Formats: sequence, structure tokens, C-alpha cells
Amino acid sequence: MTNPPRDPFIDYIEILHDREELESSYAPQIPAIKNFNRLKLHPKVTFFIGENGSGKSTLLEAIAVAEGFNAEGGTRDFNFASQESHSDIHKWLRLGRGVRSSRSDGFFFRAESFYNVATEIDRQGFISYGPTSYHDQSHGESFLSLFVDKFKGDGLYLLDEPEAALSPQRQLTFLARMHDLVKKDSQLIIATHSPLIMAYPDALIYEFTPDGLKEVAYQETEHFQVTRSFLDQPERMLKHLFES
Ligand SMILES: Nc1ncnc2c1ncn2[C@@H]1O[C@H](COP(=O)(O)OP(=O)(O)OP(=O)(O)O)[C@@H](O)[C@H]1O
Ligand SMILES: [Mg+2]
Repeated sequence: MTNPPRDPFIDYIEILHDREELESSYAPQIPAIKNFNRLKLHPKVTFFIGENGSGKSTLLEAIAVAEGFNAEGGTRDFNFASQESHSDIHKWLRLGRGVRSSRSDGFFFRAESFYNVATEIDRQGFISYGPTSYHDQSHGESFLSLFVDKFKGDGLYLLDEPEAALSPQRQLTFLARMHDLVKKDSQLIIATHSPLIMAYPDALIYEFTPDGLKEVAYQETEHFQVTRSFLDQPERMLKHLFES
């Protein structure tokens, strides 16, 4: 449905199980991360899905820091920390990089710390982010204006729960935006719980499980199946939930 992909920015991820840093970091002890060695990424879109606390944000943050992004989010030019530094978090992984320049466009978006990124944009007075502060927009409006106005394409975008503030309709808008970015030769890696967003067809979905990372088809995901069962028969599901 789109042009053949260009080379990816990141082709694969390898976990360095024999590094000393593994002993001192919590990250490589997370079961999903501990139990895989090498992960092939899709040149267009890769999804990380799985239970709360299964390690999605940890792996995404490590990839981001290894790629030169600020640990709390932003472009590669952001250099602020409102929390303890996570600069060591990537030492247990190695990225198999493609030949494309990592100095292209790019953004590490974390829903949970976007407030801090918006504060930093205001503090720096970055004109390129437009005249209206993200703090003066609604939560969802600020997310979408970043995705639509600031992501230029031909870039690497790492997104942690982009759906967090988006209504279902705006999640569909986001899906369309993803498609635009893919058509402009971008690569996206997205941690999500949204059954709408993970429907993007030209993608790999990896589920974080205690046994490692498992590739799963969209309709086999728990997100798809639970949502479909619920919406098919909400009264029946509620009765079952409340009585059990
Ligand atoms: N800074 C930290 N120090 C120690 N442990 C941490 C730290 N950050 C996260 N963890 C632990 O690592 C595990 C994975 O957390 P992570 O945030 O990667 O999960 P997640 O899959 O993104 O979950 P969610 O879907 O809730 O966002 C959790 O058990 C968490 O408690
Ligand atoms: Mg997370």
C-alpha cells in the first residue's frame, strides 16, 4: 500500500547479555528483555505491546538514548533533565543501524513527560514550534500539533503511548499522520496499548512476555480480542465482570 521502504534507520536491536552493566541495571533483568537476544525492526513501523510493567518504555528509552535523544524526550537537540539522568540506560543494547544518517528529522515522544518537553520548548523560546505554547493547548491538541506540525518526515520517530491524550477520532487522525510519515520514508517505533493505533497494516507487532518478545498478528493481540469481545456484547461482559 506504500512504496517499498528505504533502508531503515535501525535494522535490529541486540541485547548484550555479557556486559558488566547488566548486573547494575534494572532494565536487563526485566523478563521480556532478559529473554531475547536480537530483534529485527520493521523498516516502517514496529509496535511494542504488552502488559503494564512489561518493559516497553524501558526498551524504547534505551533505543532513544542510544540514538542520541534526550532520555525525557524531544529531538536530538534537547538536553535537559528534570529527573535523575538515564544516560547509562542504553549500555546493554547495540543498534544495528542502516546507512541512513541519524541526523535526519527525529523525535522521542513520551506521553508521560511531554509536559516537561513543552516547558523546555517555552524556556528555550523555540520559534519553530509555533506561536502557541503546548501548555496553552489541551493535552490532546498539543500531542497532535506536535505530530502534525513538527514531524517533517524522512526521520526516526520513537513514540511512547501517543494515544494517551487522544480521543478515538483523533487516534484515527494519528493513524493517517503515521501513514503520511511512512510515505515520506520515516521509520516509527511505537509503544502502545491502543487497538486502533496498532492496526497500522505495514508493521511488525512485538508483544513483551515473560519469555521474551514475540511477534504477533494484529487480530491475535489481546487488545484486539478483548476490545472486540467487549464491544460485541458490553452488557454480557459487564455482568460477567461484576459477578465474578
Ligand atoms: N528507574 C527505574 N528503576 C527501577 N525499576 C524501574 C525503573 N523504571 C521502570 N522500572 C521497572 O521496570 C519494569 C518495566 O517498566 P516499563 O516502564 O518499561 O514498563 P511498560 O511496559 O512501559 O509499562 P506501561 O505499559 O505501564 O507503561 C517495571 O517493573 C518497573 O517497575
Ligand atoms: Mg510504558
